[in-house]
Amino acid sequence: MSARPKILVTSATGKTGVPTVLQLLEKGFPVRAFVRKLDDRSQALEHAGAEVFLGNQYSITDMRAAMNGVQRAYQCAPTAPNGSVFNAVFTAAAYEAQLEHVVTLSQWLASPSHPSQSTRDTYIGDILIRMRSEMTVTTVSPGWFADNYLSSLDSALHLGVFSMPLGDGNVKKNAPPSNEDIASVVVGALIDPDTHAGKRYRPTGPELLSPNDIAAAIGQALGRRVKYQNISPRLMLKALKATAPPNYSVVLLEAGHYYTDEYRRGSMAVGAPTTDVETVGGRTPENFESIARRYVAARPKLRPSLAGKLKAIGGFLKILITRAPDVSAIETQKDYIKLKAPAFCLDDDTWRESHASTELKPISKQVA
Ligand SMILES: NC(=O)c1ccc[n+]([C@@H]2O[C@H](COP(=O)([O-])OP(=O)(O)OC[C@H]3O[C@@H](n4cnc5c(N)ncnc54)[C@H](OP(=O)(O)O)[C@@H]3O)[C@@H](O)[C@H]2O)c1
Repeated sequence: MSARPKILVTSATGKTGVPTVLQLLEKGFPVRAFVRKLDDRSQALEHAGAEVFLGNQYSITDMRAAMNGVQRAYQCAPTAPNGSVFNAVFTAAAYEAQLEHVVTLSQWLASPSHPSQSTRDTYIGDILIRMRSEMTVTTVSPGWFADNYLSSLDSALHLGVFSMPLGDGNVKKNAPPSNEDIASVVVGALIDPDTHAGKRYRPTGPELLSPNDIAAAIGQALGRRVKYQNISPRLMLKALKATAPPNYSVVLLEAGHYYTDEYRRGSMAVGAPTTDVETVGGRTPENFESIARRYVAARPKLRPSLAGKLKAIGGFLKILITRAPDVSAIETQKDYIKLKAPAFCLDDDTWRESHASTELKPISKQVA
């Protein structure tokens, strides 16, 4: 039997879950990977040496079973409806299972008065998880992942554009981290609680980039010129709706709506880049062009073609004829709570203060 603690990884087939499982296994830790489907992704984790647990993270019964015999965990709440339930279920089960250490995935913008309910929920979830004093916690709060930009590889290749509502193309506003670098920080904190308990880390890429820099890097990776196009927030919402699954969650629209607003305001650039990937993850953060090259290499069928170009034009026409979703009306319809005086991050002193430090404030002071 391994003397090393067994570590549960939730959302194990997700962007940060997969590299977290793989990096922990490489370091010799036994891993239980929480998945909700048995498929080629779960099979790959199993082949790498993880014990796969099939369940639903909304279910306390499943989470209790998943924590049986586990000492530490990576908690990653999926972007899904009723997201606050994930952290509540996890916290209750972790309390019962008497876990010793948890690394929780938060996010850059989490703050108490944010206009987005799911962002406020993340802020509250971060506090909830830390309330059992016998369990140590490290909070990992990345900003906008590099992965987000790379969903537009097809239109970049076939139409030569990188279209997002990120504002002025020349202003450097984000230092995007790779999924693997975020995972390296999670893993560093999971395997060394003595050093990392009570800390908040904000993994970033090596440098701040402008939207024009990002378009140029995607162009380098694809071997063609790609131009940044600053589209309207309304067009982006239409695109999200046109490409979303049929029963898409309002969380998806909220993220697009509020986070691109924060991006344009410059919140993602505050305190970036950090050195957390080096100091906690023990590696040099990957630059965006290298990440983009990896994504392109992983899609050998992504080649210039007439069929691809026609498909990309068809996709664009579909976006144009899609009715723009009204985020505020959808929030009302879904019973989302709207604050009387919401605050974006740069206007929120609590956010600014927490952003300036890697020390997590003691809970008693935070909630007072
Ligand atoms: N993207 C960003 O820029 C960004 C920035 C900061 C923070 N974040 C945070 O990152 C988190 C998401 O992490 P991620 O990107 O690593 O994950 P992800 O790629 O979105 O994956 C989520 C995983 O959870 C699984 N899942 C969904 N619902 C489930 C359920 N009810 N029970 C069990 N499993 C379930 C999904 O399985 P299936 O694939 O089988 O559906 C998927 O494997 C969110 O909390 C978000 O706020 C994201």
